[in-house]
Amino acid sequence: MKILVTGGAGFIGSAVVRQAVAERHEVVNLDALTYAANLESLAVVAVSPLYTFEKADIRDRPALDRIFATHRPDAVMHLAAESHVDRSIDGPGLFIETNVTGTFNLLEAARAHWQDVGRPEGFRFHHISTDEVYGSLGPTGKFTEDTPYDPRSPYSASKAASDHLVRAWAETYGLPVVLSNCSNNYGPFHFPEKLIPVVILNALHSQPIPVYGAGRNVRDWLYVEDHADALLTVLQDGALGRSYNIGGNNERANIDLVRDLCAILDRLRPDAAPHGDLITFVADRPGHDLRYAIDASRIRDELGWQPSVTLQEGLERTVRWYLENEDWWRPLLSRDGVGTRLGIGS
Ligand SMILES: NC(=O)c1ccc[n+]([C@@H]2O[C@H](COP(=O)([O-])OP(=O)(O)OC[C@H]3O[C@@H](n4cnc5c(N)ncnc54)[C@H](O)[C@@H]3O)[C@@H](O)[C@H]2O)c1
Repeated sequence: MKILVTGGAGFIGSAVVRQAVAERHEVVNLDALTYAANLESLAVVAVSPLYTFEKADIRDRPALDRIFATHRPDAVMHLAAESHVDRSIDGPGLFIETNVTGTFNLLEAARAHWQDVGRPEGFRFHHISTDEVYGSLGPTGKFTEDTPYDPRSPYSASKAASDHLVRAWAETYGLPVVLSNCSNNYGPFHFPEKLIPVVILNALHSQPIPVYGAGRNVRDWLYVEDHADALLTVLQDGALGRSYNIGGNNERANIDLVRDLCAILDRLRPDAAPHGDLITFVADRPGHDLRYAIDASRIRDELGWQPSVTLQEGLERTVRWYLENEDWWRPLLSRDGVGTRLGIGS
C-alpha cells in the first residue's frame, strides 16, 4: 500500500513511518518541519526506495494538491499537528490554523484525489487524534468511544474540532475514514519538552526536575511503537467510519512516574545523591486535566490488538535510549522554547 503520512518527522509519525517501511509499505512523508520535527528520527529509512519526503505545510492547499497528484496514495495517515498543550496555552492561534484549518485542507485535498481516482472503496483517510478530546475524569471510570467530547485546552479543542470535520466529510461526501484517539505516548525520539524526556535529561544534567502542581494528575501511558502498530492495524483492518480508542492500560500519577524514572536512572547512571532529590514542584498548568484513562476494549475485541510493552519495560528502554543517543537529543536543546517554562497562562 502507498501511504501518505503527515507529520512523519514528529515523535509518533516517525515511529509510524519506520514501522510502515519495515512492513514493506511505500511511504510518502509530508511534513513542514516545525520546531517539533527531526529528520534524524528517520535515518533508518532515509535511503529506502520505499520512502519519500515532501516538505510541505498542511495549511498550503496547492502544495497538498500537488503532492496527491504526484504520489496518488492509497491511504492517508494524518498525524501532522501542533501537539504541545503548554504551547497551545501561550499561542492558541497556530493550533487552530494547523489542527483545524490544516485538517480541513487535507480533507479537501484527499477528497479531490479520491474522487479523481474513481472513489476506490479501499481508500482510507485515517485521522489520528487524542484522548484529551474527552476532557477530564475523576478518580474512576474510563473513556470509551461513546464518551461525549468535552475538550478543555486550546490543543484538545482544536483536535476535537478536527475529529468533527473528519466525521462530517465521511457523512457528507462519503470519504472513507477511520479515526483513533490515543492516550499519552512515550518512548525513543520524544521531543525534549515533554514530561518523560524532560525528567531524564534534567536528571542527567543534575537540574531540578519540574513536576506540575502536586503531581497527582494521572495519565495512561502507551509505548510509541505499540501505538504505531495499533495505527497500522486500524488503517488496514478498521471498519469504515469507526473510531478506536488506543491505550496502554498503564495508568500512573505523574509524581509516581517521575519517581519510577529516577529509580531507573539511579541504577543505570548513579549520581552522588538520588535523582529523586531533584524533584521540584512548580505552579500547575491552568485547566490541568486531572485524569485520563482509556477503555481500549473495542480495538482489542474487534481488531485483536493489545499493547505489548509494560510501563516498567518501556520506561527502562526509553531511559537506555536517551543514555545511548545523545547525538539525537543534544541539538534539540537549543530549539525555541526548550528548557523554559511554557503554558503558565496569564
Ligand atoms: N504525543 C502524544 O502523546 C499523542 C497522544 C495522542 C495523540 N497524539 C496525536 O498524534 C499526532 C502526532 O503527535 P506527536 O506527539 O508525534 O507530535 P509532534 O509534535 O512530535 O509532531 C508533529 C509533526 O507534525 C509536523 N507539523 C506540524 N505542523 C505542521 C503543518 N502545518 N504542516 C505539516 N506538518 C506539520 C511537525 O513538523 C512534526 O513533525 C498529533 O496529531 C497528536 O495530536 C499525540
